[in-house]
Amino acid sequence: MAQILDGKKVAQEVRSLLKGRVARLADKGVVPGLSVTLVGEDAASKVYVASKDAAAKEVGMMASTHRLPADISEAELRAHLIAQNNDPSVHGILLQLPLPKHLPEDSLLNLIAADKDVDGFHPVSLGNVMLGRPGFKPCTPWGVQVLLHRAGISLKGKHVVIVGRSNIVGKPLANLLVQKAADADATVTVCHSGTRDLARFTREADVVVAAIGRAEFITGDMVREGAVVVDVGINRVEDASLPKGYRLCGDVHFASVEPKASFITPVPGGVGPMTIAMLLANTVWSAELKAGIDSKHDPFQ
Ligand code: GUN
Repeated sequence: MAQILDGKKVAQEVRSLLKGRVARLADKGVVPGLSVTLVGEDAASKVYVASKDAAAKEVGMMASTHRLPADISEAELRAHLIAQNNDPSVHGILLQLPLPKHLPEDSLLNLIAADKDVDGFHPVSLGNVMLGRPGFKPCTPWGVQVLLHRAGISLKGKHVVIVGRSNIVGKPLANLLVQKAADADATVTVCHSGTRDLARFTREADVVVAAIGRAEFITGDMVREGAVVVDVGINRVEDASLPKGYRLCGDVHFASVEPKASFITPVPGGVGPMTIAMLLANTVWSAELKAGIDSKHDPFQ
């Protein structure tokens, strides 16, 4: 029987810490501002964006969500993002992914001012992560790190096997966890679709992080007894017996993995709420920097 890594609870703790920092900013007349842009009608993205907006407001920040049509031209979207860059009330800019196919994700993400890149997707942010320097950390990998650390799970000397090499999760998470730091210091292996005999790696891991984007891909036979299992996936699987017509599940087959694991994240309620909390943390830090407040970027270490 595994202990549940309760992301909802830890995210709430993070938000409580942030409320204090938001109050300190208010004393200086500053309200942290988050600008979220959603292009098109992707159903999952709509839910995420609404959650980000609500969470920002809950901690006393200003949040504005811009819903733009799916057929917007690249030039129009660029102009919109530049306007966010130039708006002094905006401390953080988030462009929700995925974008409609005709829009070039990479060059649009590059356009977001590096000092407002609270999603941590800009090459400057990712470079700082790789170098172990202060900077905006991508929210999901940072959320995984904070969740493990606050649960008292030390990664020092542990073998972390990350399954998935995306720019959003796998690659930055590997870079965060390999740093010499109290909440890192792991030996990291990144597996992916080209890995031969994947289970050979996952079976030898102290910590398995599943970030593949394939429903219930990691099964009980692929993890060792006592492993810590973090499920970054969130997949919609058709289920005609439910009113919504689908159920949500992770990249981990919970029923077969949970009995072997020492700790496991649930889906939903694991990594998802952490992602949002860390987005707010990046935005508050951005506002503090602008306000000249000398704060530690990562008070969660
Ligand atoms: N799409 C899925 N996850 C994310 C995220 O963390 N940020 C953005 N911008 N888009 C996403």
